[in-house]
Amino acid sequence: MNGMRQVPGVHERVAVLSDIHGVLPALEAVLAEPDVQAADRLVVTGDIAAGPQPGEVLDLLRAQGGKVLWLSGNADRELVEYRRGERTGIPDPIAPLAAEALTGDQVEFLAALPGSLTLQVRGLGEVLFCHATPRDDEEVVLVDSRSARWAEVLTGLAPGIGTVVCGHTHMPYIRLTHGRLVVNPGSVGMPYGRPGAHWCLLGPGTDLRVTPYDVDAAVARLTAECGFPGIAEWADHFLNARATDTEALELFGHRDGRGEARRVSRSAIFEETPSWP
Ligand SMILES: [Fe+2]
Repeated sequence: MNGMRQVPGVHERVAVLSDIHGVLPALEAVLAEPDVQAADRLVVTGDIAAGPQPGEVLDLLRAQGGKVLWLSGNADRELVEYRRGERTGIPDPIAPLAAEALTGDQVEFLAALPGSLTLQVRGLGEVLFCHATPRDDEEVVLVDSRSARWAEVLTGLAPGIGTVVCGHTHMPYIRLTHGRLVVNPGSVGMPYGRPGAHWCLLGPGTDLRVTPYDVDAAVARLTAECGFPGIAEWADHFLNARATDTEALELFGHRDGRGEARRVSRSAIFEETPSWP
């Protein structure tokens, strides 16, 4: 992950796609949305490729050309580290397979992505985009994180940044904290709480969207096209959003520093993928 990029110009409409996680049918559904096609920019806020169809997702996004602004997520960084031999494993069992499926060019493409960027959106002013928080690609904040936790993770931001867009936790929300609007578009490919491909449209307001698609057909397609041994179960679990938002908040809550959170069984999310997000 590299530093922050500042994108010039004032943008009327910006579509934000986060946590696609290699789920090509979900990405295709969002890219077919008229408001996505009409947007000035698509900002992809990380965790792009770690999933069943990593190369296909990268190829489709790269085919959109310069309209796409890319950010790295922790799961993308892990793919790069694995391929470079900087780590021997990744806690998510599908990720090593995804890493092996990437071409050398795709690995280098992911390695070069920045960690955050800012751009101007009409009606919102200067907006900062990142994967998890502005300072880190992996730490957790949730819709119900304490104000003190928000102050901690947003510390040091330039005063002109009125809106922060972050992904990582796979659940959409809009929250005002310390005078700044925080927007999480949710996950395109691995939603918690309800199925569908989640994204958001910025400018002049903040509009959380969900694009329905044929999940049964997508599960069948992933099962046919991906060589991961557990793909049928993986796809059924994540594309149908079998994990509720309550389960996800309970599972991840302890990672935002709250002391009283109850730790639930990892199997509440999915037995073999305990690391999400
Ligand atoms: Fe993610």
